[in-house]
Amino acid sequence: MMSAAISAIVACTAAAQPKTIEDGVYTVEQADAGQELFEQRCSSCHNADFYRGTFSNRNNQPLAYLFEEILVTMPADLPGSMMDSEYESILAHILQLTGYPAGDAPLDYASGTMHTVNIVPPKD
Ligand code: HEC
Repeated sequence: MMSAAISAIVACTAAAQPKTIEDGVYTVEQADAGQELFEQRCSSCHNADFYRGTFSNRNNQPLAYLFEEILVTMPADLPGSMMDSEYESILAHILQLTGYPAGDAPLDYASGTMHTVNIVPPKD
């Protein structure tokens, strides 16, 4: 059995471990919900390879930074024109499209959790 001191250290290490976008940070339902909007509002200017490049360029940055950038600047022809929940489902769809796994909880910007999730480059 572990001593209390050792189990406390183990618990701290686990809490400090940053999550990444490989850890299932969106749900399949959310990604599916974003597909139509993504195709209507984003596909005319970017393809999946563009987003793979974005994730590579933003290696180690919090996912919240990318979300905020998209929220404020995209779609370039009508920035900020959607609700946060729509941008969340679009980002979920982009994560799915570029090969990151889905998980149990949806992306939720207002909860602040996107600040604790780091971007890692896509596995090709
Ligand atoms: C009318 C064309 C157009 C549309 C539509 C559009 N974008 Fe963009 N997007 C751009 C341009 C131009 C840039 C900046 C130049 C570049 O990086 O190619 C850009 C940049 C980006 C970036 C890179 C941001 C960065 O700093 O890493 C992302 C991600 C992105 N767009 C996502 C989206 C999403 C999501 C949508 C749909 C909601 C969307 N774009 C719709 C033209 C567009």
